Parts: sequence; C-alpha cells; structure tokens
Amino acid sequence: MPTLKTQKITAKSRREFLTKFGTVSALGLLTSTTAMPVTTPPLRIEAGPYLQNVHADAAAIMWVTNQPCFSWVEYGDGNYLHQKLFDYKNGLIQANNRINKIKLKGIKPGSTHKYRIVSTPILEVKGSQFHFGEPFVSPIYTFSTPKEQEDSFKMVVFNDHHEGPQTIPELLYRFAYKGNEKDFDLVVFNGDVFDNAESEKQLIEQFLRPCVDIFAKETPFLFVQGNHEVRGAFARNIPDYFSFVDEKFYHAFSRGPMRIIVLDGGEDKTDDNWEYKGLAAFDPYREEQREWLAAEINSEAYKNAPFRVVLIHIPPWHSGDWHGPIHCRKMFGDLLNKGKVDLLLSGHTHRYGTYPADSSHHFPIMIGGGPIAGNRTLIKVEANGQTLKAKMIRDDGEVVSELAIPKPKKG
Ligand SMILES: [Fe+2]
Repeated sequence: MPTLKTQKITAKSRREFLTKFGTVSALGLLTSTTAMPVTTPPLRIEAGPYLQNVHADAAAIMWVTNQPCFSWVEYGDGNYLHQKLFDYKNGLIQANNRINKIKLKGIKPGSTHKYRIVSTPILEVKGSQFHFGEPFVSPIYTFSTPKEQEDSFKMVVFNDHHEGPQTIPELLYRFAYKGNEKDFDLVVFNGDVFDNAESEKQLIEQFLRPCVDIFAKETPFLFVQGNHEVRGAFARNIPDYFSFVDEKFYHAFSRGPMRIIVLDGGEDKTDDNWEYKGLAAFDPYREEQREWLAAEINSEAYKNAPFRVVLIHIPPWHSGDWHGPIHCRKMFGDLLNKGKVDLLLSGHTHRYGTYPADSSHHFPIMIGGGPIAGNRTLIKVEANGQTLKAKMIRDDGEVVSELAIPKPKKG
C-alpha cells in the first residue's frame, strides 16, 4: 500500500523545493548546459481534483494530468495551507506519473479543510537528474470531514446511466439541490456507468469531468463497479482512478447512523462463458467477498450501527436466473439476512422497483431504473438516529417509491 509523507511548508518557495529534487527550468528550457530544450505540450489537468473516500480523519484527493509530473497537495484546516503531502512508495517519492491519489490521513474530524493541487511537469529524466517545468497551482478548494459521531448523513445514488453522461447533471440539478445548497454528502454511482470500459478518454469525459464540474472538487463520490465496467480494453485500469477503503471495490464504512456495505456483484454470466475468453474469475472473487462479509457483519462497527445499507450493482434477488444474480444470492444472501440489513440498493435490471422484505430477503430492496430518459432514477437516501429514508425519483420528477424505516431493535 502506498503511504504518505507529510512536510510542513516553510517560507521556501516551490522553486527552492523543486531544486532539491532536480533542476527547475526557466521558461520551459533546461538549465543544463548540455541539454537541449525539450518540447512538451502545455500542462493540462485532464480531470480533477476530485474527492474520494472522505471520512472523519481522512480523504483522498485525486487528479489526472496530461503528462508525467511531480505532484502534491497543499492543505490545512485553518486559513493557511500549512501542510504539504505527496505520495511515496518503496522509498521513492511518487513522480513521473499522471494519475494522482494523495491520501490525507489524521486530519481533523468535523472540520472544513482547504486544499490545492500542484503539478510540476517533468520535462526530462537523465540518470538521477530531473528537469522540471513550471508548476501548475490550482485554485483553493474546500471540503468538510464528518464528525466522529455524525448525527445524520445523506447520499444520492445513480445507477446504469450507460454512457449517458448528461444524466449526471440532469438528475443532480433537478433533484439533489435545495436552492443552491447541495442535498447530499456523497454521490454514489451504483454500477454500469459505461457499456464497455474502453479508454481513459472515455472515463474522463463521461464520468470524471461531469462529476468534477458539478460537485467532486468539494464533495466525494463513490464508484460501485457494475458488470459493464469489467468489460473492455480499459477495464483493468479502472481501479487506478478511484480510492476506496482498503483500495478494494468491496468494502464497508460508516457515515452518520449508517454502516454502508459495498459489494461487487461481478459479471452476470458464468466465468466460462465464451464472451470472457477465459479471462474471468468472478466466482472465486465472490467467494472471497463472502469470507470478508462474514467478518464484517461480526465487526463492532457493523453491530453498533443503527442502520445497515448495502450497495451492489446486481441485485441478488428479483433480477432473473442468470448465474451472476444466483451466485450473488448464494454467496451473500444468508449473510445479509443474518446481518439484519435494513436496505439493499441495486441497479442492473433497468426496471425500477421496490421489493418489500419477504422470506428470502428479510429487508427491502430498491432497484433503480435506466438508462433511457423516462426510465432513469435518482435514489435519495438519508438517515438520522431514528429513521432511514429512501426515495426513488424518476427523471420526470415522479416519486416512484418511498421508504421510511424506523431504527430497529438490533439483536
Ligand atoms: Fe448491469
């Protein structure tokens, strides 16, 4: 796992800081007497910054540059950006890279934090000599960490917008703001953002940029992998662009009165299906998640949470009899019942609906619709200490389903 190095920003200029690591070029020209000027495209931030994995004392700040850089975050919880963080791995400070994931740790809970990103192009590397370009310094942004004991929490949940990036602004602006105030602490994408994961360009243009443009510089989002993200030439690169608890698609975290369990339903067909060309191993992956889930439902954080909410793209019930849903049910069903889950949120079927608790699943299941206009939904979930509420709104504004779940007596 990558770790972080923290360093106080002193009165030294960035130029002096960079000089420690190599040579800063003036006006883009190398200062070495033997070096030739290096022509590089202007530095651009292709996406970001965007927030991931924000908790009481931690946050990941991510961005993507168009060329290799040395990058860091300057931040603070008062009026000054008095701290600087960069990533280091195996003793090397991360540099000459484009995808940045800087994980702030030990930050103050229940506070507003200011930050900005800095990326300095690396024009050339010769032996141990680095030649840097002029740094890009972003504006200052703010985000908030929740209190350790957060009274309430709100999230909005998309699913299955399948390469319709306009769905993100359309549904957010229609239903997720009260005046100019955002009515969410977290935005969830519950799978199938794409039809196939083909390229970084697609990921940036269809997903990251719409989020950054609207909210993600100051409010985090969570990507839950769907079965269409595991298809395509870029599928194996997707995790690099996000940050999760333990850096796994399946994980759990607490926000407000909710314990949120994220499961990866994997593909919908058997691993030996001809479509996967022998490159799928979702059965063992779901078995691995079963083992993790069994431990999670016995954790103190889980047992003490007033509400338990599950996010999984493929609903283990009410989604047909293909192998994926059936194996999800086999791997997770008994544990979710044993764990007294309060609500499960899914997508995948493209048919919105809410299914009350029954003898097979002892909790309600809400499945969002999509991706065609008229069938898209946004699910708004909020909880305080007493009630968990979920409301599914169709894109025309009709509330198609609403649940209010009182705090249960946990056994
Ligand atoms: Fe799906």
